Amino acid sequence: MPQESIQQLNRRLGLAPSLVFEAGEGGLTRAVLRTPAADAHVYLHGAHVTHFRPRGTAPVLFTSARSAFESGKPIRGGVPVIFPWFGPRRDDPSSPMHGLARLAGWSAAASQLLDSGDVELSLELASSPDTRRLWPHDFRLRLTVRVGAALEMALEVANTSQTAFDCEEALHTYFAVGDVRRVQVRGLEGCDYLDKTDNLARKNQGQQPVTIVAETDRVYLETTAACTIDDPVLARRIVIEKSGSANTVVWNPWIAKARAMPDFGDDEWPNMICLETCNVGPSALRLGPGRSHRMAATVRVGQM
Ligand code: BG6
Repeated sequence: MPQESIQQLNRRLGLAPSLVFEAGEGGLTRAVLRTPAADAHVYLHGAHVTHFRPRGTAPVLFTSARSAFESGKPIRGGVPVIFPWFGPRRDDPSSPMHGLARLAGWSAAASQLLDSGDVELSLELASSPDTRRLWPHDFRLRLTVRVGAALEMALEVANTSQTAFDCEEALHTYFAVGDVRRVQVRGLEGCDYLDKTDNLARKNQGQQPVTIVAETDRVYLETTAACTIDDPVLARRIVIEKSGSANTVVWNPWIAKARAMPDFGDDEWPNMICLETCNVGPSALRLGPGRSHRMAATVRVGQM
């Protein structure tokens, strides 16, 4: 389908001044959502939320100054949508890391201004010859982003094939923090996790909050509770509530891995932490034909 122009998108779904489409970084099309409570940016490339700032606070999402903004490349930061596999593809490591959704051009499907003053945008990605070259199944993804005092993101996956499929999914959220070495993440106490920095060894978090003192790459299992990120440097607490998600991934690349990533500044690692709402590994989804699944995350800023 030929890509809709910015003018056509604004005519069909624009709600100026609350929702306006424009050319963003690298000329990629983005929606700018503005409400009395917050601002946000959502790119059609990857259905990628790159920015969320409630009034009176610093941006809540981290986006790298070195990120590519280019079709065919992922955006580094914000909220990459990961589907249908997480990390390297198990049966084919030459396939793109973290699946196809973050590399695809999504279409804008619906917009709405709510009585509360919040504004909502839905984006869709349906299987096509391009996606079938990478993954043989038929599906429809819908990401609904609601912006107000909180940022709400809901990812719906529908199986439109004749047969069942297995898939993984994540809202791979990069949070901005003052200094990752000083943050405490709560909500994962007592949970088991797979440590990707230690050959996927299964470990337990114990009763301590998560702190970051080295490269950290963990898949927490069976986690449904809300998580909080306490940030003494920015003097704020970020609260993440979720539904339809069995895992939380915690990731910070630390020094060496940051240096090895071409689209991430060498000195940016202290200013971010990924806390990802997902269904991956042992909690991958199995969807029968005609079935769908909804996973959602709500992010808000509070006082510590
Ligand atoms: C995390 C993974 O979710 O994403 C890490 O657990 C990975 O292993 C990280 O390094 C970043 O991946 P990418 O493909 O965006 O560089």
